[in-house]
Amino acid sequence: MDYITRKYWFDCKGDERDKMKILVVGGGGREHAIVKAISKSERVDKIYCVPGNAGIAELAECAPIGVMEFDKVAMYALEKQVDMVVVGPDDPLVAGIVDVLETAGLKVFGPNKKAAILEGSKAFSKDLMKKYNIPTAKYEVFEESEPAIKFLDQCKFPIVLKADGLALGKGVLICKDYDEAVAGIHEIMDDKKFGSAGNKMVIEEFLTGREVSVLSFTDGKTIKIMTSAQDHKRAKDNDEGLNTGGMGTFSPSPFYTDRVDDFCKKYIYQATVDAMRSEDRDFKGVIFFGLMLTSEGPRVLEYNARFGDPETQVVLPRMKNDIVDVFEACIEGRLDKIDLEFEDNAAVCVVLASDGYPVSYEKGKEIRGLENFNGKEDYFCFHAGSKIVDGKVVTNGGRVLGITALGNDLKEARKKAYEATEWVDFDNKYMRHDIGKAIDEA
Ligand code: AMP
Ligand code: GLY
Repeated sequence: MDYITRKYWFDCKGDERDKMKILVVGGGGREHAIVKAISKSERVDKIYCVPGNAGIAELAECAPIGVMEFDKVAMYALEKQVDMVVVGPDDPLVAGIVDVLETAGLKVFGPNKKAAILEGSKAFSKDLMKKYNIPTAKYEVFEESEPAIKFLDQCKFPIVLKADGLALGKGVLICKDYDEAVAGIHEIMDDKKFGSAGNKMVIEEFLTGREVSVLSFTDGKTIKIMTSAQDHKRAKDNDEGLNTGGMGTFSPSPFYTDRVDDFCKKYIYQATVDAMRSEDRDFKGVIFFGLMLTSEGPRVLEYNARFGDPETQVVLPRMKNDIVDVFEACIEGRLDKIDLEFEDNAAVCVVLASDGYPVSYEKGKEIRGLENFNGKEDYFCFHAGSKIVDGKVVTNGGRVLGITALGNDLKEARKKAYEATEWVDFDNKYMRHDIGKAIDEA
C-alpha cells in the first residue's frame, strides 16, 4: 500500500475533530490497564485495540488483527485515522513494529527496533551495562556450547544461564551444580529449546536479595520513574512451581527505600538512557528495570522495553497524570516538562488463571460475576485472556483476569483484592493465595 498518499489524505482532515483517537496494540491485562488509563483522558474520544479481548471491548473498538501483523496494524491505524498508536507487548517491539508504523506516518509510543534490543538481546544489555558501569551481575557471553561448558570450571554455583533472545520469560535457568549447568547449556545452545533465542547465551553470577520492578517513561534524554512494584513469577504459593508470566503484583514495594531510589537514580536510570543515546539508540517509551536489591546495593537483573504485565495493573491505577500527555511528551522529546504524580496509596493485583497454567489448561469456560465490578471505583477486573462467544464472556488463556484493588496501604489493598477474587467465577479458576505476603515481612 502507499502509506505516503494515505497519510497525506488523512492529515488533511483539518479541524473536523479536536479530540484524539488512539490505537493500542496487544490483548492482555497490561493492555486492558493501558486502555483504562487512556479512557480517563479528556483528550481522547475513541480508543481502538488490536486484537484486544472481552474486557478491553467495553472501552475500545477491537479488531482481530495479530500483534505481529505489522502491515495490517498500520492499515487499520490509517483507516481509523488514529492520532497515536501505543504498543504493549515485547515481541512486536523487538521485531520493529514501531519502525513500520512510523514509516507509515503514524505517531507511536514505544521504542524502535534499534532501541528495543535493550530487551531483545541479553548479551547486548549486559555489554551495555559493562561498558557504561551500570551495576549488574558479573557475566560472560557465549556463541557456542563448548567454551561455555569450559567456563563452568571457573564458576561458583548456583549459576544463571540466559538465552540471549526473547523466550516468553522462560529463557532463564538457575542451575544448582555443574551437571545441571552443562545440561542447561546443551538445552539452550544445542537443542535450541528456546529456538533462535539460544543462538547466544549469557552465563552470569547468581545474586540474592529482594526483587523489585521499576517502570519508567523516557523520551530518549529525560527519564521519569513511575513507582515500584513486585511481581510473583512462580505458579504456586511460596514461590513454588514453574515460572509464569506473573501471578500477581503489588505496588509500591516497601523494600524500595529512599536509599535504593537514590542509588538507582545516580547509577542506573539516567545512566541507562544516556548509554543508549551514546550508542545512537535513543530509547523512547517505557523502560522496565528488573532490579535485585543485594546486600551490596541494587543490581540490574534485566531490562524490558515495555510496561510489565501484571505490574502495569497496579502501577497505572495509581497514576494521577493524564497518560496521553505523558505518551505525547515521550514521543515529542519534552518529558522534562512533565511531573509524574502518583497517589499516596497502594494496589494489589491477584491473577485468576486457568488451572494447569503455564503448562496445559482448558479454555472456553464461561466467566460469571463480571458485573459485580460495575461502579466500584477502587476495584478493577483487568482481562488477560477472555473473549466473547455467543454473547457470553469465556476464558481464552492461561492468565484470565487480574483482580486489582486500591487501598490506603498495601494490607488494605491486599484484603480488598482477595475479597474481589470471590466476585467472579469460572470452571478451573486458579490463583495464588499469598500475593503480597512479603508485605508482612517489610
Ligand atoms: P529475567 O528474565 O532476566 O528477569 O530473569 C527471570 C528471573 O530469573 C528473575 O526475575 C530472577 O528471579 C531470576 N534471575 C535472573 N537473573 C538472576 C541472577 N543473576 N541471580 C539470581 N536470579 C536471577
Ligand atoms: N511481569 C514481568 C514482565 O512483564 O516481564
